Amino acid sequence: MSRYALFGRSVSKSLSPQIHAAFARQTGIAMEYVGIDAEPDALDAAMDAFAASGGRGANITVPHKEAAFARCTVLSERARLAGAVNTLRLDEAQWYGDNTDGAGLIRDLTGRHGLDLRGRRTLLLGAGGAARGIAPALLEAGVRELVIVNRNPERADALADVLGEPARAHTRYWEDLATIGDFELVINATSAGRYDGVPLSLPFALCNDMTAAVDLNYSEVAIPFLAWARTAGLRTIVDGLGMLIEQAAESFEVWHGVRPDTDAVYALLRQQTPEPKAG
Ligand code: ATR
Repeated sequence: MSRYALFGRSVSKSLSPQIHAAFARQTGIAMEYVGIDAEPDALDAAMDAFAASGGRGANITVPHKEAAFARCTVLSERARLAGAVNTLRLDEAQWYGDNTDGAGLIRDLTGRHGLDLRGRRTLLLGAGGAARGIAPALLEAGVRELVIVNRNPERADALADVLGEPARAHTRYWEDLATIGDFELVINATSAGRYDGVPLSLPFALCNDMTAAVDLNYSEVAIPFLAWARTAGLRTIVDGLGMLIEQAAESFEVWHGVRPDTDAVYALLRQQTPEPKAG
């Protein structure tokens, strides 16, 4: 039985073990997938111990996506652009790193939710590991403009620099959110409320008739942003559950060369996760 794991903080709450168990059943692949809690100073040792005990691959979640990136000897192009990894594979004792978050988001938005992202003026809130993972994929999907706004402006500038398309991807200040116009796509890639319980406070001026609101979080952490989107009367409101399942399917393919079907798993987990309702 091949061994896989999720490294992160508070991973006992993660749905990933359930998702990968379902994929393994569906494809007939014998694998074990467990959550491993590690604080930042213990990540290296935990990864080494996992590799020594026969681990073959892993997912990486908060707060380790950037630290795990630094441990990889070989990287996919999309991981290199993101500066963060969510998927590792052990290839002859070397960590190969990939980032399937962006592809997972695009597949969820375009496939499951039928959104055409091309031409959308897009607001990306946040510039941490989650935002870095999806920004290149948003540009590739053809958004018209990507405005990156982060509480700490240096981090937003660093992300825009890495993207290297100043005409399309640029930054604005958090304090200016009320005056930067409206967007056809607003993505919450912050962790606001996850640790401190303080939700984002956003102006409705960001919205127009077309705006789709997307939170990369799911469950309780996503509730305030989704409630804001409902109050704004938006018709398309999406939480991070579909992206979670799609990025997992991409990771599964990186490990096993087989792409699992995600619809049944989405239907099952949706029953356990509050559905974001349109306004
Ligand atoms: P993740 O991997 O989830 O992106 P992260 O790398 O720690 O985690 O990044 C968290 C993101 O949420 C950052 O963009 C952070 O902003 P700062 O860079 O200014 O810290 C953002 N964030 C967290 N709490 C926030 C809050 N209360 N308001 C606004 N942004 C917040």
